[in-house]
Amino acid sequence: MKSNNIRNICCIGAGYVGGPTMAVIAQKCPEINVTVVDINEQRIADWNDEDLDKLPIYEPGLKEVVAEARGRNLFFSTEIDQGIRDAEMIFMSVNTPTKTYGKGKGMAADLKFVELSARRIAEVATDDKIIVEKSTLPVRTAEAIRSILDNVGNGINFQILSNPEFLAEGTAINDLLYGDRVLIGGDHSTPEGQAAMDALTEVYAHWMPRERILQTNVWSSELSKLTANAFLAQRVSSINAISALCEKTGADVDEVARAVGTDSRVGPKFLKSSVGFGGSCFQKDILNLVYICRSLGLEEVADYWEQVIIMNDYQKRRFAENIITTLYNTVSDKKIAFLGWAFKKDTNDTRETAAMYVADHLIEDHANIHPYDPKVTEKQMYEDLNHLNTRSEEENKGRLKVEEDPYKATKKAHAIAILTEWDQFIDYDWQRIYNNMKKPAFLFDGRNILDANKLSKIGFIVYQIGKSDKVVSST
Ligand code: NAD
Ligand code: UGA
Repeated sequence: MKSNNIRNICCIGAGYVGGPTMAVIAQKCPEINVTVVDINEQRIADWNDEDLDKLPIYEPGLKEVVAEARGRNLFFSTEIDQGIRDAEMIFMSVNTPTKTYGKGKGMAADLKFVELSARRIAEVATDDKIIVEKSTLPVRTAEAIRSILDNVGNGINFQILSNPEFLAEGTAINDLLYGDRVLIGGDHSTPEGQAAMDALTEVYAHWMPRERILQTNVWSSELSKLTANAFLAQRVSSINAISALCEKTGADVDEVARAVGTDSRVGPKFLKSSVGFGGSCFQKDILNLVYICRSLGLEEVADYWEQVIIMNDYQKRRFAENIITTLYNTVSDKKIAFLGWAFKKDTNDTRETAAMYVADHLIEDHANIHPYDPKVTEKQMYEDLNHLNTRSEEENKGRLKVEEDPYKATKKAHAIAILTEWDQFIDYDWQRIYNNMKKPAFLFDGRNILDANKLSKIGFIVYQIGKSDKVVSST
């Protein structure tokens, strides 16, 4: 298939990846019609909402891109079969969560939605198609997809490409426009395979410099995605491990990170110590990697990567336990204000957020948690906590009081915990917050974003990740 034959793209899955990725392709390729389809009717309705503030996901810059392309060459629809039939190129951008049942439960990626999409494509396609794996998948998934397409389809020629997505939430549009690279895995050994890779390359070449579009074999591409996430998460766990040591020794984790990160061989990114990484992918992808390694008998390799998750769980637990210990060994019926619930700033996504685990831990000690997040809804916070199944929904309701105003959230609180690094937290009127809190006023900065010296001068007792002592006012 020639690259200039691509006139219609369909993307199955209108989520955090499918929506922004296709919006950018549509914006940059005005001659290509891009249709994003999903089984979730509400999600599609939200993508089509005239009020751009009601798009189903929040990403800086997203609504401007959608405003430009939607209705011109960007469409959101529940007509999945139609979308498949019309397209020469189909992206699969469905979710691939950790399996919650059966073989591989709690470790392997659940490929149910990928398989259903492949079967649907095979059943309704009437002419040749390029299928693009956009979802993050275990290495060699393309083999399974090929088997489904070839056995269910009616003699149609399918080319399968792997094109993993590297965007991070909160910076998705910027990452899509100016990413370090685009990775395309395909079959170099046949002219059709090479043509399919070139067709996808041409789509990206509308805005990405060609030297940043990498072509590899399919298995390298699939495995590179899991490896990239594992390396990034490993850096966070590494600095978090060192943060625990800093707290015992008087070293300052931010100073250590700066000293280490200025070595150009190490680099400065992903060395920010925190309450623990969250998000939909780091944990899921590493568990998946661990599962693949164990399945292939690579026990030592599996153990090595599993430690990244073990360290992350330790960091979240350590943060919660420090709150309990510092508040005189009990938080029972104490008000703990949470600033932030999202797994990082500039997103409304809460999947695997450290906040819910810390809240859960504190509620086990009978704390009353009053969270405020500028972008996360009350409904979402309850869903997150209930999803952990630690106690009844009724009990969670009694312990979690979601607030719409940070000053109300912190009023009469025994302690404040910063769980997300939202910029606006820095500029709050901290004197006012202090005045309205119970004394001593404890503050646990799980992101090290606040000026601890300034706060301690006000009177707060401040705990920061990876700093030796509670910073107590010297005045
Ligand atoms: P998501 O849950 O936000 O979106 C997936 C969408 O697919 C949902 O709206 C769901 O309704 C839809 N879907 C599922 N099965 C379907 C079917 N059979 N037909 C039509 N629609 C169907 O997930 P996401 O965060 O966009 O992630 C998608 C994939 O991309 C995952 O594999 C993930 O690992 C990967 N990824 C995610 C990110 C990220 O930042 N979220 C970044 C890179 C890669
Ligand atoms: C991550 C990767 O960065 C993306 O490249 C990848 O495409 C994506 O996963 C995916 O596959 O889903 P994302 O999870 O959206 O992106 O966000 P990150 O910026 O990577 O942050 C992940 C978590 O690590 C957050 O909780 C963040 O607060 C935490 N983090 C990150 C730290 O604690 N310290 C750091 O230095 C960096």
